[in-house]
Amino acid sequence: MRIAVLGLGTVGRQVVEVLDLERALFAARLGEEIEVSHILVRDPGKPRPESVRSRITYDPRDVLEDPSVEVIVELMGGFEPAHSYIAEAMRRGKSVVTANKEVIARSGPELSRGGTPRADLLFEAAVAGGIPIIRSLQESLAGNRLHGIYGIVNGTTNFILTRMHEDCVSFETALQEAKERGYAEADPSDDLDAVDAARKISILASLAFGGWVDVDAVGRIGIRNITAADVREAKSLGAVIKLVARAESTPEGLALGVSPTLIPKNHPLADVGGAQNAVYVRGEPIGQLLFEGPGAGGPATSSAVIGDLLDAARARRVGGRSVALPLEPAPLLPPEAHSHAYYLRLLVREEAGALAAVAQAFAHAGVSLRSVHQPPSGDAEAMISLVTRPTSRQQLERAREMLRGEHAVLREESCILAEMEAEAKTGA
Ligand SMILES: NC(=O)c1ccc[n+]([C@@H]2O[C@H](COP(=O)([O-])OP(=O)(O)OC[C@H]3O[C@@H](n4cnc5c(N)ncnc54)[C@H](OP(=O)(O)O)[C@@H]3O)[C@@H](O)[C@H]2O)c1
Repeated sequence: MRIAVLGLGTVGRQVVEVLDLERALFAARLGEEIEVSHILVRDPGKPRPESVRSRITYDPRDVLEDPSVEVIVELMGGFEPAHSYIAEAMRRGKSVVTANKEVIARSGPELSRGGTPRADLLFEAAVAGGIPIIRSLQESLAGNRLHGIYGIVNGTTNFILTRMHEDCVSFETALQEAKERGYAEADPSDDLDAVDAARKISILASLAFGGWVDVDAVGRIGIRNITAADVREAKSLGAVIKLVARAESTPEGLALGVSPTLIPKNHPLADVGGAQNAVYVRGEPIGQLLFEGPGAGGPATSSAVIGDLLDAARARRVGGRSVALPLEPAPLLPPEAHSHAYYLRLLVREEAGALAAVAQAFAHAGVSLRSVHQPPSGDAEAMISLVTRPTSRQQLERAREMLRGEHAVLREESCILAEMEAEAKTGA
């Protein structure tokens, strides 16, 4: 079977290398050899290893218009032209394997609808790298009613938060270190602002809850405002701060969001450190499950890509399977109706009555407080950190509005979620 790989970067290089090296093994598993006949790249000026040179092309038509190429492995990244190449390949009856979460989150259903019946679209590597979560949700867990999915699905931010937590380094130092180690890109905005995690949870939620989730419906709070002071306060509360992507089933619809979240130290996600990824699933009858593993990097991602490739190849010979993406939109709970406990850190004037003024603002907004902490300060400014009881977003916003009008309050420095599983606690 002839296949083509689009992109020869971190993941593409590894995929081609493993396919070349393990040709005999995969032939035994599949009953047929897989030959990488074309490799599409962009830059003619880049040196390429001798082993791939004869297969390199810069013209996508060489791949898309060759009827002998049965499967396309898209590893270029970005929305266009990857999206157009995938659509064109599928219209021509080729199956597609991709690691591109941007394309799947924005256009997955449209792409799977547009292909011929033989054209499969597989994307295990698009979420959580080497962790086999897509196939697990689609197949192994299909007999469950799922209640919630909670993911640490962005290795860059998890690395940064882990460094801040373990060695009390600043956000800036941890980010710099992530760049030096190759965990963060030159422009890490998609990671830091939770865009990447939002794409991934929209894909997981679409598979788990049976309705398409538009990525723009996922509320996002990134990690740029998290400081060493927040990490210290989290520790004093017996918690760690992680960027958690959440999808919870409620009777009124799906509650979705990505936010830095205080996780109690005894929760299974609390120990997921460094650039690791993890997905925690709650459902019935399974109870709880934790998937953990490397979420990025050539080796981990190529494991998922090649698994999909063998699947797609097998389906073309013995009859198909495809990841069925739902076409109808999922009913969503509006963000203002989400109920959560929140952690806030405020900078206040060091004066008598500041704490009382803060407490009063929350009381007037109808928000109860679970804990309040004001460390001693010798300065004109002091810090107050507090955790609310579960409250609606509307009530929280009312309290924040009132705080902004308080003379004693200089500014709010952080506002993030203070609990992992809202629905579990409310019993829904
Ligand atoms: N890296 C990871 O750890 C990881 C993990 C999970 C998922 N992914 C996903 O995997 C995909 C690939 O990531 P990567 O890190 O391997 O990317 P990368 O290192 O930046 O490599 C991209 C490759 O695609 C080629 N390319 C880009 N635009 C092209 C175009 N218009 N026409 C032809 N070739 C083009 C580049 O060609 P040149 O060589 O000529 O520049 C390069 O070989 C992305 O969707 C990414 O989100 C990556």
